[in-house]
Amino acid sequence: MSLDLALLCTHTPRMCHRDRVAPFQQPLVKAMDTASEQLHRVNPDVVVLISCHWMSTFDHYVDATPVHQAVLTAEECPDMISQVPYRYRGDKELGESLAEAGRASGIPVKPFDDPAYVWDYGTVVPLRYLDPREQISVISLSVCWSADLDESYRWGQAIGQTLQRSGRRAAFAASGALSHNLVRGPEQWPTTMEMALDQTFIDLLKQEKLEDARQMLPPFAQAAKVESGGRHVAVLLGVLSQYGPYNAELLGYAQSSGSGNPVMTFSRR
Ligand SMILES: [Fe+2]
Repeated sequence: MSLDLALLCTHTPRMCHRDRVAPFQQPLVKAMDTASEQLHRVNPDVVVLISCHWMSTFDHYVDATPVHQAVLTAEECPDMISQVPYRYRGDKELGESLAEAGRASGIPVKPFDDPAYVWDYGTVVPLRYLDPREQISVISLSVCWSADLDESYRWGQAIGQTLQRSGRRAAFAASGALSHNLVRGPEQWPTTMEMALDQTFIDLLKQEKLEDARQMLPPFAQAAKVESGGRHVAVLLGVLSQYGPYNAELLGYAQSSGSGNPVMTFSRR
């Protein structure tokens, strides 16, 4: 039926367990809880989530498995994310439609159905906040490293068009940071210049200046080492280009090991 909410959200691994989050990241907890309230208010059938930590090399993948159930120990940080169980319904039909729409746009997108596939923490962590009771179906997407920002944007457009035309109420979430020049020390902020770039980019999104944001993204991604080279953001911009007028809210922004992590929602106006 429609795409009813879009989100840019954080997945910092130190947030996996709510009861262990450090004080400096509490603003992100609050922001994710507010995003969750907004998500449940629009009551979608499905959340389509692209994660910077699911990196595919040549093709874009769509996890169209009907039930996503596993126990995650994150290879990057098995001390922080250990034996975390999850179970969400999937949406095979819509997942296959998304892949088909990507291929129709000339983009190599492959769906798969494999109950043995275990999600990355960039998918699991935000969902633990956005939908802690595991009520909403999920389709997860990879970021593809052979895709440049333009292809990622066009993939986002195909996703946005498909969700608008689907028989579902859908939400789209991009899981990742903006500036991402990582350093040791979880409480470290990005540099002043990186935070200024983050803020400028966020302002363009808030002002619905999507074309300006698209123009800014390649040099921004290079200068501030935006997570996944900015691909998750390019996909989000493609989705938003099909969305129509929206109200954007910056619900929170905090640091994690030198990265800048906004939580933003884009609700239909
Ligand atoms: Fe990350």
